[in-house]
Amino acid sequence: MEDQHINKRLRIAALISGSGSNLQALLDAIEARHLPGVEIALVISNKANAFGLQRALKHKVPALYLPWRTREEWERRVIDLLQLFQVDVIVLAGFMRIISADFITRYPERIINLHPALIPDGGKGDTYTTSDGSLIPVFRGMHAPLQALEAGVRVTGSTVHYVVPEVDAGPPICRREVPIEAGDTEDTLQERIKKVEHQLIVEAVKIHQQRV
Ligand code: GAR
Repeated sequence: MEDQHINKRLRIAALISGSGSNLQALLDAIEARHLPGVEIALVISNKANAFGLQRALKHKVPALYLPWRTREEWERRVIDLLQLFQVDVIVLAGFMRIISADFITRYPERIINLHPALIPDGGKGDTYTTSDGSLIPVFRGMHAPLQALEAGVRVTGSTVHYVVPEVDAGPPICRREVPIEAGDTEDTLQERIKKVEHQLIVEAVKIHQQRV
């Protein structure tokens, strides 16, 4: 039997705010037939100049800029679009706004987020035990790579997780450690983390597809 017949159809809406390199990783994996059954149905950006919009259009994926006036209005429009485009799962691929608990509880285990730090099993808790046994803080919110540098830890990483109302605290789908190197700046560390994320996001979508 061919892959297409055994893999469940999964229509993704990607929410972005910027570069969209993780969206690109998904588009490339789909094009290379590494994610049979998976399709990016729609890309929505809250920023007009998000480069990810161009990436989507280049792949002939519907892409739109939805200005963020109020959270309530924005979410109402997104809910309509998700229905119109028959979306099964939402991927927050570098989406830099906090979404409401009401929106999140509408789609339990149907919203996936990428966070550039290590989140423990179950998602909650303030510490993470790395593979070498050291205990590091969980860096939540904005500038997580910078937080890791400032804390002086030797290892950080990235986690793909299901979204729950508490920020960056949902159960991980997959994650990977990334070592911090001498002389790292926020930019160099963020870039090294992104390289890992490009694999993780594809892995996470595959795992999710097998679960639903
Ligand atoms: C990624 O590193 C992602 O983990 C991070 O933004 C970057 C987006 O990159 N997300 C957050 O910090 C969310 N709190 P991209 O636009 O190139 O995919």
